[in-house]
Amino acid sequence: MRKLPIADVLPISASINGAGRLAIQGRDVREIVEEFGSPLYIYDEATIRAMCRDFVTSFREVYPQTEIEYSTKAFSNPAVLKIIEDEGLHIDVVTGGELAFALAADFPVEKINFHGNNKTRQELMEAVEAGIGRITIDSFHEIELLNEVAGELGKTQVVNLRLSPSVDPHTHRLTSTGVLDSKFGFSIETGDAEKAVDSALSQSNLDVKGLHFHLGSPLFELEPYDEAVEYVCAFAARMKYVHGLEMEEFSPGGGMAIGYLGSKLPPSIAEYATTIADSLTAACTKYGLTEPRMIIEPGRSIVGRAGVAVYTVGGIKRIPGVRTYISVDGGMGDNIRPALYEAEYEVMSVDDPTGEFFGTATIAGKFCESGDVLARDVKLPEVGPGDLLALPASGAYCVPMASNYNVQPRPAIVLVTEQSETRLIRRRETYADLLATSVYE
Ligand code: LLP
Repeated sequence: MRKLPIADVLPISASINGAGRLAIQGRDVREIVEEFGSPLYIYDEATIRAMCRDFVTSFREVYPQTEIEYSTKAFSNPAVLKIIEDEGLHIDVVTGGELAFALAADFPVEKINFHGNNKTRQELMEAVEAGIGRITIDSFHEIELLNEVAGELGKTQVVNLRLSPSVDPHTHRLTSTGVLDSKFGFSIETGDAEKAVDSALSQSNLDVKGLHFHLGSPLFELEPYDEAVEYVCAFAARMKYVHGLEMEEFSPGGGMAIGYLGSKLPPSIAEYATTIADSLTAACTKYGLTEPRMIIEPGRSIVGRAGVAVYTVGGIKRIPGVRTYISVDGGMGDNIRPALYEAEYEVMSVDDPTGEFFGTATIAGKFCESGDVLARDVKLPEVGPGDLLALPASGAYCVPMASNYNVQPRPAIVLVTEQSETRLIRRRETYADLLATSVYE
């Protein structure tokens, strides 16, 4: 069997089959696309499970009191939530919609945490009424609003406070969240965090369990976690002394990177775990804190590598001496990340993954925007109309950020199970779906 190139960015079950084509869990990707249509997102169950286990094992080995909380914004689907539940993870949501989705999938409500910088009264009502496990508060307005809502419903709500630690995680500006100039979290630096602790502790319907921060994503460096953990623990110690806050729970968020390019791979989960656990343990000793329960919130790193987007090649435009554009049947409508963050992806020929280099081309989407480019100047074997191209590492933040721009139906999603079955887990949208919300007089 031929060796798979860029194996580190493909699902763990990916291989090259006897026909010389890309396969996932032994299933020929071209055959899957012929059955379910193009473009298609294919998820590998084995990779999702392996990532869940890697997180649970790596973190508990160095810090036994850890819970792994999957951030469903990265990709939410009933079949995936079942896998997540089965692996014993918790989840977080950031809107009433994500909560409704999780509840519809029968996810245990006590294992759900509600994040978000501007939850509405209605959303808080729905969450408290449902008996949600945690709400992570992100503004002074929310402290009062949630206290009121919980009071109206006759409940005491368990909450954490989201802090902003002013640490630059060295990632794209649009995905940095723990810096001073951010809409997220109570800033420690400005004194807001202390005011928030004081205010939250004085509310009769809130039970403040701990502190949270999230630096941004994807984070290829470990040092920002180390720096922020130490800073937040120093703050927690001061809050214990001044306001009597007992930090029973602590969350350094998510943000663990994945490999998008074979040439730029992230640290292992064990390395993230060791860095975070070591700094937490050291800071607790240094500041005389009882070691809290730790909650890790990975999104991208659980599902990113599991997903592969597959497109069909249409027209090819050669501009001599300038560039060759290969147009495919999807694009920014199903993957906005290159246009929004200049995100880079590998591109692989499904029919000829080990094919000899033929030329460099730019993969253009079909949407009516010049910025609709999925990958720039990638090296490919010879491809022509009807050939299939795969974008590995497309499992996180592509489908959830998809739009119906140009009234383009969003793609179908197939899960390849560990038993090598192909299961349609989201059907392709139809024109009727898209017409259904318009009101005709
Ligand atoms: N926890 C909190 C509070 C978050 O805000 C996020 C992501 C996560 C956890 C999960 O982060 P992850 O492990 O997935 O990096 N659309 C962007 C990413 C936005 C992330 C938003 N918050 C992208 O496509 O790169």
